[in-house]
Amino acid sequence: MRCLAFTSLVIGLLIGTAFAAFDQNRAGAVLKAPDDSSFTSVAGTFTVPSLTGNPKLSIWVAIGDTLQQDIVLKGGITYSGALTSFVEWYPSNTTDITADVPVRAGDSITVTVSVPSSDKATGTVIVENTTQSKKSTQEIPIPSNADPATLPSLAADWFVQAYQAAGELVQVPRFGTISFTQCSATLANGTSIGPQGAGVFEIQGTSGQIYSTTTTTASGVSVRQM
Ligand SMILES: *[C@@H]1O[C@H](CO)[C@@H](O)[C@H](O)[C@H]1NC(C)=O
Ligand SMILES: *[C@@H]1O[C@H](CO)[C@@H](O)[C@H](O)[C@H]1NC(C)=O
Ligand SMILES: *[C@@H]1O[C@H](CO)[C@@H](O)[C@H](O)[C@H]1NC(C)=O
Repeated sequence: MRCLAFTSLVIGLLIGTAFAAFDQNRAGAVLKAPDDSSFTSVAGTFTVPSLTGNPKLSIWVAIGDTLQQDIVLKGGITYSGALTSFVEWYPSNTTDITADVPVRAGDSITVTVSVPSSDKATGTVIVENTTQSKKSTQEIPIPSNADPATLPSLAADWFVQAYQAAGELVQVPRFGTISFTQCSATLANGTSIGPQGAGVFEIQGTSGQIYSTTTTTASGVSVRQM
């Protein structure tokens, strides 16, 4: 499932910076770093939607290694009957941080992921419920399949992810519109850039129906359910 999803992601990204592509199960934006640079930090803020029912959803902010996104440092929230918060340096395991940052519908969540350009052995993910100042700062070791000396940090991600069981249709709970605000991605030289012009992705059913419409602005990414 993940391989399939990222195959379509890569095809989309090969077309250029302003492009649209359809990922099987996620919607959002991927900003590519300029050729001579990389990202050290990516941030975004979103309001937790009111979700019900069985389909699972997660909302996350990340730095990916390359546009293939094989190694992705991320933090955010997951709905799976209940709301939880998490950090992960994929493909390593997810760490549930709900005890530190409980989540409720209507909460404003800010995620900041950082990998210093000087030493990529450890990434930092900060997940914060800004409304009540509940915050978790997690330092995560680089996954064992990645080399800190050569890890690129070329993709900034703001994503809403749906899920499907193997061979089944993607399932999407009603989420309305999820808006990432205060989106920024900091380059190794300290310059911050926003998601305008990033590649956008939509949640797609296997028979072609599109479940989302994603738009980007200078500092925002909006994912509207259709
Ligand atoms: C993830 O956790 C499972 C079960 O706890 C364990 O078997 C597996 O080795 C872990 N994987 C990684 C990459 O840490
Ligand atoms: C986060 O903020 C909301 C207010 O929007 C509050 O209801 C909720 O309890 C907060 N969660 C935590 C864990 O502080
Ligand atoms: C930082 O790097 C970017 C991309 O290479 C470049 O456009 C920008 O001008 C640089 N900023 C500074 C202050 O050097």
